[in-house]
Amino acid sequence: KKVVLAYSGGLDTSVILKWLQETYRCEVVTFTADLGQGEELEPARKKAEMLGIKEIFIEDLREEFTRDFVFPMFRANALYEGQYLLGTSIARPLIAKRQIEIAKLTGADAVAHGATGKGNDQVRFEIGYYALNPEIKVIAPWREWDLTSRTRLIEYAEKHQIPVAKDKRGEAPFSVDANLLHSSSEGKVLEDPWVEPEEMVYQRTISPEAAPDKASYIEIGFEKGDAISIDGERLSPATLLTKLNALGKANGIGRLDLVENRFVGMKSRGVYETPGGTILLAAHRGIESITLDRGAAHLKDEIMPRYAELIYNGFWFSPEREMLQALIDKSQEHVEGIVRLKLYKGHATVVGRKSPKSLYSLKHVTFEDDAGAYDQRDAQGFIKLNALRLRLLKYGRG
Ligand code: ARG
Ligand code: SIN
Repeated sequence: KKVVLAYSGGLDTSVILKWLQETYRCEVVTFTADLGQGEELEPARKKAEMLGIKEIFIEDLREEFTRDFVFPMFRANALYEGQYLLGTSIARPLIAKRQIEIAKLTGADAVAHGATGKGNDQVRFEIGYYALNPEIKVIAPWREWDLTSRTRLIEYAEKHQIPVAKDKRGEAPFSVDANLLHSSSEGKVLEDPWVEPEEMVYQRTISPEAAPDKASYIEIGFEKGDAISIDGERLSPATLLTKLNALGKANGIGRLDLVENRFVGMKSRGVYETPGGTILLAAHRGIESITLDRGAAHLKDEIMPRYAELIYNGFWFSPEREMLQALIDKSQEHVEGIVRLKLYKGHATVVGRKSPKSLYSLKHVTFEDDAGAYDQRDAQGFIKLNALRLRLLKYGRG
């Protein structure tokens, strides 16, 4: 009887809105979130009003997104398949959570999203919904309707007085998803993995070739594994990430052209831009390098691929993700200090790190006489016992 739609205000979700009203004869509540995608939200309100919507939710979720989703994920140094910083994956659970909360608030019994039936996003949204409300009804128009071609979608829009911008009449050259952490481009002209993406695909970074010939230096401060300052200035999570994005953009940092394995089984080619996130990952590894014990560091690196896969596959609200998060958060207790980075032509390189909690001991690394904790004569037995089984192999079997 009532459905909460994740509404961007764009053509596709406007058609979905109308289609829901027509097909299900139900009242539609719209939810539009600012996750840092860089689009005005007020036009979405206007459009929703015009389409007869009475309950319109428009929210700025940039701080919550960065603080409660992006930062916890970065504590793990999460990368999917070794490279993808999970920019789209990490935003879906927050949208799902707010939709379920708004459903409760407005007495809606259903939720709807605009993801296609072939991708990861449908899985992430819907697993999120069900995890938070096992009774919720889910409507995924792209899996149900017959508006499968652009022409039919536009016909439907025109028939129902949904304004179609001139530049939206033709096929979009590729599909984009964006938020404060990244922008991702997929499909159409990007589908052939042999063909290099044209420069016009990139929207958040200048090319490394066009970046300044002079390096920029920045210092990022950390507390309990989270970035808290840039060049000594304390910043809120979203403000900090916004600033890193600007620095990354100007230096051509964070571009990725990747073929990945979707959860639903197919491979897909994506072009990602994660300027601030790429700097943040390098910086976080830099501060961990002096503040984490080896055993702790290696253990969290071992579980990282598993943790990343859970986020990619849509299991943010699962007990196993929460268990791994508890382990990761525990490891960050002493991850504090300052990292200095050099930003230059597509690269963010750590060139300095310091911490009041450092485990790096100048006294012990130096070849001079040390405090006595390390006796070089101990190394002989250490090496010999480690080599023992290899020597036995050489002596031969039997
Ligand atoms: N392949 C990425 C993921 O699964 C991004 C998906 C959304 N991107 C898009 N351009 N529609 O996380
Ligand atoms: C979509 O199909 O809606 C976007 C791509 C994806 O979900 O992986």
